[in-house]
Amino acid sequence: EEQAGQDRFNQIIAEDSRIEPRDWMPEAYRKTLTRQMSQHAHSEIIGMQPEANWITRAPSLKRKAILMAKVQDEAGHGLYLYSGTETLGTPRDELNDQLMTGKAKYSSIFNYPARSWADMGAIGWLVDGAAIANQVPLCRASYGPYGRAMVRICKEESFHQRQGFEILLELSNGTPAQKKMAQDAVNRFYAPSLMMFGPPDSDSPNSGQSTAWKIKRFSNDELRQRFVGMIVEQIKILGLTLPDPDLRFDAETGTWLHMDLDWVEFKAVIAGNGPCNAQRLQRRRDAHNEGAWVREAAAAYAAKMARKTE
Ligand code: ACO
Repeated sequence: EEQAGQDRFNQIIAEDSRIEPRDWMPEAYRKTLTRQMSQHAHSEIIGMQPEANWITRAPSLKRKAILMAKVQDEAGHGLYLYSGTETLGTPRDELNDQLMTGKAKYSSIFNYPARSWADMGAIGWLVDGAAIANQVPLCRASYGPYGRAMVRICKEESFHQRQGFEILLELSNGTPAQKKMAQDAVNRFYAPSLMMFGPPDSDSPNSGQSTAWKIKRFSNDELRQRFVGMIVEQIKILGLTLPDPDLRFDAETGTWLHMDLDWVEFKAVIAGNGPCNAQRLQRRRDAHNEGAWVREAAAAYAAKMARKTE
């Protein structure tokens, strides 16, 4: 039976069709998807923090409403992805525990501070922009629930990116001090947003198998270069510059080449030693504890309703 399952799995992957939760799948496929999808969910949840930090200081009622909606979207993405991950067999409590105890990874980018209002622009434009570049191909991931989740998430991320771009555009066309603030935000978020795509292909242990299983469709470096090609045009409209002295178009390969990134810094950040890791996890644990009464009330209510229908 195991052999029949494996044959069927291989066939579905070869046909570029989809694996669904009840299908047989190799344990390693289940494991790597649980890893990637839960890391992704954690990133959405932790990613609420840098922006939530600016909700009370947004410069107008309109900006505040937009930012609140965006942060709520991120919460929705997280919950959606936790549900998707649960279809692989790991309960949400366990996933949540892995995050709060620091065992699980989440995206490096959310360990950098959001220092100014312009950072809301840079995060929307660069961070959500990188997220889209990485996630659009994931809409075709071989695991059904993940691919379908990505379709909706990418639509919302596109709106997020536009609102970030628009914040930067307005600041860039504002006073010299505002323009400087926008440039400073781009300067700080450029390299960390390129690192979101993961380590270079030569140092990406999961890529080979994930590509063979059609979870990944493009390599980390390919997507990173594609993203640079997108923003290199958009920065001109913003009237700002990318802080990259080595940026150039390579006619031979048809790709944009960027500066070397600091992979020592990247490794330190994902090992838990970035500028805000401790603060982000502490905030998550506090929020979880502060929400205990809501979970207890919801469980008590569910139990009461179950008794009523007996
Ligand atoms: N931040 C934190 N950890 C990272 C990052 C990053 N930017 N990039 C890679 N890693 C981790 C990997 O998770 C892996 O760790 P693990 O083996 O302990 O799980 C290790 O570094 C080696 O990397 P790869 O072998 O290249 O890992 P993988 O094949 O999973 O590729 C990638 C990494 C591209 C991030 C992939 O997991 C992915 O596409 N994930 C879905 C997208 C996502 O999570 N986005 C979150 C940020 S976007 C947002 O939330 C708005």
